[in-house]
Amino acid sequence: MAQTPHPLHPALKPFAKAVTTAEHAATLIRNGDHVFVGTGCAAPRALVQALETMKCPPADVEMLHFFTVKAFDHDAAGHSTTHFRHRSFFVGTDMRAALKQGLVDYVPMAVERVPEMMALGRIPVDVALIQVSLPDAFGYVSLGVSIDIIPAALSRARLIIAEVNAAMPRTMGDSTLHISRIHHLVPVATPVTEFNVTPVQEANVQRIARYIAGIIDDGSTLQIGLGQVAHEALQYLTDRNDLGIHSDVISDAIIPLLEHGNLTGACKTHKPFKIVASMALGTRALYDLMDANPLFSMEPIDAVCNPATIAAQYKLVAIAQASSIDLSGQVCIDQFGGEFYSGVGSQGEFLRGASRSPGGKPIVCLTATTDDGTQSRIRASLLSGESAAVTRADVHYVVTEYGIAYLFGKSIRERATALIELAHPRFRPALFAQAQSLGYLSADQTLQNLRAYPVDEELTVTLKDGRTVMLRPALSSDAQGIRDLFHHLSEADVYTRFFRHVRGLSNAEVQRLCNVNYDSEVAFVAISGPREASLIVGQSCYFTNPTSNLAETAFMVHPEWQGCGLGTALQAHMVQHAMKRGLRGFVAEILPGNARMLHLAHNGPRSVKIEKTSDSVHLTQLFEATPPKGPAWERWVRKATGWSHRQTSPDGETAPPSSAD
Ligand SMILES: CC(C)(COP(=O)(O)OP(=O)(O)OC[C@H]1O[C@@H](n2cnc3c(N)ncnc32)[C@H](O)[C@@H]1OP(=O)(O)O)[C@@H](O)C(=O)NCCC(=O)NCCS
Repeated sequence: MAQTPHPLHPALKPFAKAVTTAEHAATLIRNGDHVFVGTGCAAPRALVQALETMKCPPADVEMLHFFTVKAFDHDAAGHSTTHFRHRSFFVGTDMRAALKQGLVDYVPMAVERVPEMMALGRIPVDVALIQVSLPDAFGYVSLGVSIDIIPAALSRARLIIAEVNAAMPRTMGDSTLHISRIHHLVPVATPVTEFNVTPVQEANVQRIARYIAGIIDDGSTLQIGLGQVAHEALQYLTDRNDLGIHSDVISDAIIPLLEHGNLTGACKTHKPFKIVASMALGTRALYDLMDANPLFSMEPIDAVCNPATIAAQYKLVAIAQASSIDLSGQVCIDQFGGEFYSGVGSQGEFLRGASRSPGGKPIVCLTATTDDGTQSRIRASLLSGESAAVTRADVHYVVTEYGIAYLFGKSIRERATALIELAHPRFRPALFAQAQSLGYLSADQTLQNLRAYPVDEELTVTLKDGRTVMLRPALSSDAQGIRDLFHHLSEADVYTRFFRHVRGLSNAEVQRLCNVNYDSEVAFVAISGPREASLIVGQSCYFTNPTSNLAETAFMVHPEWQGCGLGTALQAHMVQHAMKRGLRGFVAEILPGNARMLHLAHNGPRSVKIEKTSDSVHLTQLFEATPPKGPAWERWVRKATGWSHRQTSPDGETAPPSSAD
């Protein structure tokens, strides 16, 4: 056997007979072999290099891998220099050029099913090239930062060749292998490949990350996948408690949460207190943290991504990054504009599992447009060359920088409306017209709001009886919820609200209460419950008369929520909104017996003028030219909104308004 150039590490001395060089190991690969290459940052670069630089390489070799990081070279023009054909379950940076050069067969399949296919021999593996840690005192090496499909490949391979690297962390969990199973050991002394993620500075990505963080509750278990946005979201979770990790991938993004004590794993139902993962894509800081650390349980992909295990986790939040979505909710993940990009990975299983997990949240996120802003990623239909990796039947939360939509259980019309509201305003009219021509929206539906959803106008309010509601700008997708609210009103309430007996609301009438232009027309809703099961319990709106610069208001509050301060809170929110926009005041036409509305008007900050006629009362509330300051205003806002109100602004939560506001 060939000699290694460096003195043998003492831990390898008992196994010296198996030690060889990468160059010699490469010669053991036969013509026609299916050669598995280890994954991610544990890809065996020296062995790949030795194969790629052979003067007379074996013929018809197929390299098989999940995905590799910096294992295959490119020339100055960016072309892949690989001499082999590849079969890959993911199109990462290493394979993108090679794919275009026709050298890669991309296999779109859930990666946790790969072990089963290997075991059945349907995905053949003849040789496995991997990278492992030094052996311990018992002769066990660790697969280190990548476990994923490697154990399955090892159990099928005729020949196992491993780079042994002292820098590979000895991870714990189901990640070890006895050295006797490895036929040839190739000592290497190179740093383990690091996956340096450049923080994404773009405001839209940060906004999405904040929205995602905003819907992650205390006690959630997180899956963060391969998409960068999910990792960005972690930085906004430093005020959350008892989070856990059960994820195919982990990155350096978990370190600050561990340091702040947010990641205890105490609420996990499967492997509580452990960080469970199958791959680490990080820097040396993460690798050092994982080294011999029993906090981390590194496991094969089919164990981590087992749908039953995922579904059994308490509050499992799965975050998938998509490349596009159509208005019916079909999500494309592994293709863009016809080109294969990334892969299906484990997202299907995680999204489905999260939907079955108690309190779980399956989240799909994407920026509303392509990076250059020329294309909407929200499309009327997926394009030819784009396929649905997540079906419309499985989609739940969708997040863009314009907000959050919950689609599960919603009709095509409701989905199309909600998704158009998540699109970039520039693309909304075209999407709206396409949705109408596809029959997703009725011909009489209109699109009033073309501006971005103003998340800074969301406010969570604690009412007098301790219940909380979120006040937020109404969306046209709130139509059904408003209709339901209307049908809960008593006949008398309907009469005081509409001045006549009304049996139902037409499409046009309900749209007028939520599909507003946020210029001359403004509407808010009060929401109770989580987004996936929310109930509209209040609605208010104002319509501005440009001549008088006064706005006419109207309110309705669910009977079970009346008398708790919700009407006052909605009014306070609208007053603040209207004052910021320079309106002079509000007017309302009410029935003479509507004592609640009169009380409500008196709850306003400024002077109230009441003019009575025989059949109605005309109320005028005038604001001051500049917003009032001081204790009176503060007392009013306190009374109106409660102390513990919270703004869902992407720039963070704000304190209750003070007299300086
Ligand atoms: C009017 C309406 C929006 C008020 O909503 P609400 O959530 O009950 O309002 P609040 O809880 O903030 O109460 C507002 C004031 O009315 C008073 N109030 C509540 N219920 C009352 C009642 N049955 N009789 C007399 N006053 C009442 C409250 O005490 C409060 O005054 P206060 O702060 O001086 O104590 C709600 O009753 C409603 O939806 N009514 C039917 C539709 C309607 O009439 N809309 C108004 C015309 S557009």
